Amino acid sequence: MISIAIDGPAGAGKSTVAKAISKKLGIIYLDTGAMYRTVALKAIKENVDSLDREKLSNIVKNINMEIRFIDNQQHMFLDNEDVTEKIRTPEVSIGASNVGTIPEVRLKMAELQRKFAEKHNVVMEGRDIGSFVLPNATLKIFLTATLEKRAERRYKELIEKGTTGISMEDVKRDIEYRDKNDSSRSLAPLIKAPDAIEIETTNLTVEEVVDKIIYNMSQRIASFK
Ligand code: DC
Repeated sequence: MISIAIDGPAGAGKSTVAKAISKKLGIIYLDTGAMYRTVALKAIKENVDSLDREKLSNIVKNINMEIRFIDNQQHMFLDNEDVTEKIRTPEVSIGASNVGTIPEVRLKMAELQRKFAEKHNVVMEGRDIGSFVLPNATLKIFLTATLEKRAERRYKELIEKGTTGISMEDVKRDIEYRDKNDSSRSLAPLIKAPDAIEIETTNLTVEEVVDKIIYNMSQRIASFK
């Protein structure tokens, strides 16, 4: 099986790039952040603090979460409800970062992600894919960009989706919080795997980033022959 790991902080361009790669190569795109977001939504619904380790351990043990691909698009289902849109709020973003610090949550998510990669050729996007989930990924990419640029991209996305009552400063603060939280957790923090290729995307177009990844992928495949 072929796997491409795309990691990096929020707003580095991972989703956009991963989607384009998936289309170009005809392989499935799995957004692992959506899984953490779904766990966070469950915690919110149950009125559970997203940092409560004991309660979150129980939640992931029993969670009725399903990933379905509809017209090639990943949909997240929680208790049989399509929550794909509901998991995109700023509140869920912070919650997802918090639940992601809990080892029991991470181990369960990593197990599901590994099983997925055993069955499908995949471009898998997250924070710990190259460093922890798929240490033998065919290609590992680590995307970065300045905090300003990342906040700008996220803000634009939220506004385009019709989110109101949010300022650029709010988005920047949330991203800074998540960066710190995601990078400092004990198990599988956000980190560049030693063998990952780092691409700084601040001044690059999506096409330029995609081209770089496709080029590296072809080099990688050629090295196997
Ligand atoms: O990629 P995203 O913004 O949808 O991710 C939301 C949060 O989920 C992120 O701040 C940290 C957590 N996450 C994680 O811990 N590990 C992953 N592989 C993906 C996301």
